[in-house]
Amino acid sequence: MSHADDSAGSRRDFLYYATAGAGVVATSAAVWPLVNQMNPSADVRALASIDVDISGIAEGSQLTVLWRGKPVFIRYRTADEIKAAQDVALGDLVDTTSNNNNQPETDASDANRALDKEGKWLVMMGVCTHLGCVPLGDGAGDFGGWFCPCHGSQYDTSGRIRKGPAPRNMEVPVAAFTNETTIKLG
Ligand code: FES
Repeated sequence: MSHADDSAGSRRDFLYYATAGAGVVATSAAVWPLVNQMNPSADVRALASIDVDISGIAEGSQLTVLWRGKPVFIRYRTADEIKAAQDVALGDLVDTTSNNNNQPETDASDANRALDKEGKWLVMMGVCTHLGCVPLGDGAGDFGGWFCPCHGSQYDTSGRIRKGPAPRNMEVPVAAFTNETTIKLG
């Protein structure tokens, strides 16, 4: 399919791939957040911060929440995912900045992207830094992290871009634990 030939291209691509991809990768989470992202209502945009209960998220899975009209991925990473992320040399990265709003101007080492010291929790905007599609998760792609089917960007288990057209690591929003089971976004 031809794409990106005009400003509406990314939206058509998303709609196309979201439909086509559903049969390939068993996920429904990728569909609704982007639709909402494309049409954020004023009341959603106005929400400055939200508290997210993470007590129901199992290790090795991800919760997607809508915040300020965009999807946010909250992933409880496995030990293997953490190790894979920590083992990557900075020199192998496309974008060597953390793109973490909690720690601006830090490098892209995994410790500068994970929310907690142990690295179990990765919170990031579920928005591909190429043209804004919602990448597929649960170990998708060549690097065990996320895969964006729109144009093939591949992200590792730290949400860092490793291959494909996206120029930046997925953005880490302002986020913090308010207690053991609650993460505040914004
Ligand atoms: S939007 Fe183009 S690769 Fe993700």
